[in-house]
Amino acid sequence: MPDAEALDTFERLEAPAPTLVEGPQTRPEMLLAMRRNVLSLYGPDAFRETTMVGPFFGQRSVFTNDPAGIKRVLVDNPGNYTRTPATFRILRPMLGEGLFLSEGEQWKFQRRTLAPAFTPRAMRIVARTTAEVLDQEVRRLKAEAVGAHDLMPMIQRLAIEVAGRAMFSTAMDRRGPQLRKLFETYGRDYGAPYPSDILLPASVPGPAELIRRRQGRRWLDFIKAMVETRKRMGREGARRDLFDLMADARDPESGRGFELDELRDQFATFIIAGHETTALTVLWAFIMLARAPRLQDAVAREAAARDLSPERAADAVGDLPLTRAVVDESLRLFPPAFLIVREAKAEDEVAGEKVSPGDIVSIAPWVLHRHQAYWSHPTVFDPSRFLPGATAPAKYTYMPFGAGPRVCIGAQFALTEATLAIARTLREVRLRVVDDVEIEPVAVVTTYPSPIPQFEVRRR
Ligand code: HEM
Repeated sequence: MPDAEALDTFERLEAPAPTLVEGPQTRPEMLLAMRRNVLSLYGPDAFRETTMVGPFFGQRSVFTNDPAGIKRVLVDNPGNYTRTPATFRILRPMLGEGLFLSEGEQWKFQRRTLAPAFTPRAMRIVARTTAEVLDQEVRRLKAEAVGAHDLMPMIQRLAIEVAGRAMFSTAMDRRGPQLRKLFETYGRDYGAPYPSDILLPASVPGPAELIRRRQGRRWLDFIKAMVETRKRMGREGARRDLFDLMADARDPESGRGFELDELRDQFATFIIAGHETTALTVLWAFIMLARAPRLQDAVAREAAARDLSPERAADAVGDLPLTRAVVDESLRLFPPAFLIVREAKAEDEVAGEKVSPGDIVSIAPWVLHRHQAYWSHPTVFDPSRFLPGATAPAKYTYMPFGAGPRVCIGAQFALTEATLAIARTLREVRLRVVDDVEIEPVAVVTTYPSPIPQFEVRRR
């Protein structure tokens, strides 16, 4: 447990909030806001109401904060809901037939078969790898620790390096920047929805589709080359990694394993789904801790008392309650996956509202996590909500990783990496925001801070 004295004296910081767009929106205004910052569309009512129903680009939209309604969609009747045509259009070129976009029997087969790569044993690989990469990164940070620093490159390098080594036993120093460029370009140019993505029926290709496919092919070819290189390394050239676990994995029902292209799509999916989301969790935590020196010192003290070496990191990660609470609270206030959207296939009832085929149903962790009915002082950054002994949030009011059968398969991966990254960094250095710029949470694909602040980094 963190020491009681520190707990009493934590700073209580107000979390940054987005600038809202005012009044009713025309369709073009709404589209523009969706391309700039989806969070700007959630006015005060969203954080008070339970369920809101209205038109959405020719479809009916049911937006719910009701835990029973959320359970209905994600847990009790998930087979009635699919991802939207816009989601498929935007993500398919990059994720191929991987787990995130698969449906029905194909999804069941993949989820069963992938399970061994995400067991606690596999997370020991992730913990060890994260600790090894942190050794390098923290040494580098301390050597450069003067003046203003943009920590995002370090955090992104960490996430790519951990993914590359944990999955393929491959150091990413050369490949990492190329990999990042491929998916950053895609996210920047094609990640936000175009009118055609939302307005055209699923069967009609939109004008953005061709370019997306071309760009997506480059990305998938790059990942395929990594999978092939790793395959050639065989067992001798590598230590046990997630590639081994996935290449060996067999569907417990049919005995079938993954073909090479299927492995490619799974790894492409993991990198896209896991990289930016985890990096942003660490960045948001740093931003809040940099403004809360007493809390930061308490995190540093907790980390100093643990063995965070690669050999012991897997044991230590479960014994960092304050650091983990900081991660949980960062995911509450700045959920990287801010919105979960589905389209109904058949009739249903959600939160007392009739749902018809083709209706859009959405659940926004962004809103849910700041909702006035579920949280005291919803916009205050207060990790003690998540410390052992605190009352757990009500079911389906806190869900940074989603819920039900399609809950994030990489949640433990992300939590392990983020907790170790924060503990290890703050054990060695003290962070302060250089000048107190106003930061706005912005979400188009994930929730990021704008601008990304500079940090003053000093050795402890
Ligand atoms: C802080 C980091 C992360 C956050 C906030 C996050 C969030 C989420 C959420 C909310 C979903 C459910 C989406 C839905 O129901 O529509 C999801 C699904 C998924 N996530 Fe994550 N994720 C994170 C990290 C990761 C990592 C590290 C990986 C892989 C190593 C990963 C792989 C996936 C996959 C494959 C799915 C689809 C699962 C399925 O449909 O069966 N995520 N994630």
